[in-house]
Amino acid sequence: MIFEQVATGGCQSYLVGCPDTFVAALIDPEASQIDRYVGLAARHGLHVRYVIDTHTHADHFSASRQMAARLGAAYVMHRSSPAPGVDIPVDDGDLLRVGNLRLKVLHTPGHTRDSMCLVAADRVWTGDTLLIGGTGRTDLPSGDAAALHDSLFQRLLKVDPALLVYPAHDYKGRTHSTIEAELASNPRLQQRDRAAFVAMMQSLNLTMPKHLTEALRVNMTGGKSVQQMLNEAAATVPFMSLAELRDRLDSPNSHLRVLDVRERDAYEAGHVPGAVSLPRGQLELRVNEALPDPTVRIVVCCEFGRISTLAASTLHSMGFQRAVALDDGLQAWREAGYPVRTGADP
Ligand SMILES: [Fe+2]
Repeated sequence: MIFEQVATGGCQSYLVGCPDTFVAALIDPEASQIDRYVGLAARHGLHVRYVIDTHTHADHFSASRQMAARLGAAYVMHRSSPAPGVDIPVDDGDLLRVGNLRLKVLHTPGHTRDSMCLVAADRVWTGDTLLIGGTGRTDLPSGDAAALHDSLFQRLLKVDPALLVYPAHDYKGRTHSTIEAELASNPRLQQRDRAAFVAMMQSLNLTMPKHLTEALRVNMTGGKSVQQMLNEAAATVPFMSLAELRDRLDSPNSHLRVLDVRERDAYEAGHVPGAVSLPRGQLELRVNEALPDPTVRIVVCCEFGRISTLAASTLHSMGFQRAVALDDGLQAWREAGYPVRTGADP
C-alpha cells in the first residue's frame, strides 16, 4: 500500500494508493493542504479516484469538494451527509475499490450521524468515531452518545483486533494505534455499560471548536471560508512591502496612487501621506470617480492587510491591472515608525 499521513494541527488526513495500479483515495483532506496532496499524489504517480470525508467536520475546513474537482475524482460520503456535491453516497457494507485495495464502509453514527469508518486489509480509518486514547465528542450537531456506544461496541470494536487504527485527529503527535491497544487502554472504552457510557460522554463539558460555526457552514453548504476567500484574492494580485511603499513615497516620479480602503474615521485618524480614502464598502460604486485612469499604479492599504487584498483583487477584476496590495497594513506601518498624516482627504 502506498500510504501518506498528513497532519494539520490535530487533524489527520491520508493518501492511500494501490502499488499495482496507482489508483488512490484521499481521506479527510484539509483545506490548507490542497497543494501538498496534489504534490504527494504526483510524487507517487497516483491517480486519486476517490476523495472521502469520514463525516461532516465541525472543527476544520474540508477540502474534499475542491480536491475531487481538481483531481477528477469522485467525492464520497455517507448517504446521510448533508454536504452538497457528493458524487457517491455510500452506505454501511459498501466497498470502494481502490485499484486492488478494498475499503469497506462501516456506518458508525455517534460523533455525527454521518460518521463512518473505512476498513482495509490491515488497518481501519476510524474518523472521529475512535481516537487514540479517546473517542469523538458527541455534543456537536447530530452527535449522539448512545449511538456512539452502539457503533463502537457493536460494530467497530468487533473488527480484527490486530488492525491498525488511523484516526481523523490526534493532538499529541501520535500517528496510529491498534484496535487491541485501544480495547486494552483507551479510558472511554473501559465504560462498556451503555447508560454509563452516555453519562460519561454527557459530562465531558468540552470547549467548542474554534471555527465551529464557520466550519459547519462551509462543510455543509459548499460555501467558502474566510481564509479561502483571502487565499483566492491573494493569488490574483502582487503585493508591495511596507518599506518599498515608504521609499516610493519619497520618490517624485513613482506615480503611485495609495488607496486606503478602511472606514473614513480610521483614515482620518492616520493614513499614509497622500493616500486617497475609498472605503471597501463603496469601492465598486465609487471607483469611476475616484480612479478615472485604469492604467494607474495603485497600492491598496487597510489596517491589517486582509481587506486590502480583497479590494486589490476586486480592482483587478474591474480592469485595474496595476493594482497591488500592501503586504501588511497600517497597524504595522505605524509600528514601523513610518510617516502618517491625519485629517480628511488631501
Ligand atoms: Fe469530527
